[in-house]
Amino acid sequence: MSEHETVPVRLDARSYDIVIGPGLIARAASHIAPYIRAPRVIIITDAHVGPLYAKPLAADCAARGMRCDTLTLPAGEATKSFTQFEKLLNDLLALKPDRKTTLIALGGGVIGDITGFAASVLLRGVDFIQIPTSLLAQVDSSVGGKTGINTAHGKNLVGSFYQPKRVLIDTATLQTLPPRELRAGYAEILKYGLIGNPDFYQWLLRHGGEILAGDTPSLAKAIGESCRMKAAIVSADEREGDVRALLNFGHTFGHALEAECGYNDLLVHGEAVAVGMVMACRLSEKLGYLNRTVGDGLIQHLRAVGLPATPRDIRADWDANRLLAHMYGDKKAENGTLTFIVLKNLGEAVVVKDVAETLALDTLKECLT
Ligand code: NAD
Ligand code: GLY
Repeated sequence: MSEHETVPVRLDARSYDIVIGPGLIARAASHIAPYIRAPRVIIITDAHVGPLYAKPLAADCAARGMRCDTLTLPAGEATKSFTQFEKLLNDLLALKPDRKTTLIALGGGVIGDITGFAASVLLRGVDFIQIPTSLLAQVDSSVGGKTGINTAHGKNLVGSFYQPKRVLIDTATLQTLPPRELRAGYAEILKYGLIGNPDFYQWLLRHGGEILAGDTPSLAKAIGESCRMKAAIVSADEREGDVRALLNFGHTFGHALEAECGYNDLLVHGEAVAVGMVMACRLSEKLGYLNRTVGDGLIQHLRAVGLPATPRDIRADWDANRLLAHMYGDKKAENGTLTFIVLKNLGEAVVVKDVAETLALDTLKECLT
């Protein structure tokens, strides 16, 4: 039996497979070769992941006859900036790529997002392949083609929809991922259960501890299930016309918290999503949709696995009005009104437009105290 699982993302001419399994990086070239237009690849990685995985990947590509260069960016969210984007494009151009060159994003969501965006504009578009190495990137950001960078006006506000040619998820890379980052990725896994799969959510409540302890079968199941859910949603709604928006559950609140923290190590993205999901549960209650037990249970589970559950778990001083102002800058805000993803029930998420500002502010104030 193959130790790899393949999950298709069906998007007509832009369809591709997600391949999941341990040890894929060392054998990546054979998975990549059928999907590149010329034997010329450029690996883009960060300063944490590069020293661990870029050499074996480059060696395997070279052994397969590919010309291969590697560019290493600083690690961390601050890399998703105009400055780093400009530098990346200039460094790429200095390597004289042509339109058949393929970029390989080797790293977490930061590297995947900036590389995908670079691929979408370099020479008006070159191919790219995702090799995600953080849990968050493996279950979410490497799949679905959202690419981009942050701006002073907010997170991910400049970018493109641009699908990779293939996603190679080497689950063995999680062995070197810092525990805090593993927990951050786990928050996005919980999101899939909360928005659309109550059985999976209940399973996660029972097995979350094992997943975070690195138990291989539990991790493989959680990654596979998350990728299947993400692939189905992206296949149904690639450009976020309707159902894909549900993947932003917890993100309107979470992005506001991240913006207030200045996109630094005080709060990493998955942690912001964890807290944001609790806040979205509280808003769902105020809208009269959700029983309070769901949010209470989520808080209990997040704390049990070592994730922050409320803004005060991150820091003591928050200003509700400042967070509200960030939420108006969210991509989902339409015509100056607030849009949120809320839960009608466990496993049933909906988009609610034009939410009254007082309700959003009440939710913020409740969650900040
Ligand atoms: P990240 O890329 O900063 O990675 C987290 C940290 O882990 C970094 O320090 C990185 O160097 C390190 N790391 C990654 N893999 C490692 C490994 N195997 N061993 C050791 N260290 C490793 O952050 P992330 O949490 O992966 O991604 C967050 C980003 O993803 C945010 O910018 C967020 O906006 C974006 N995102 C995008 C989408 C999308 O659909 N495009 C979805 C969700 C999140
Ligand atoms: N992570 C949200 C999306 O891919 O749509």
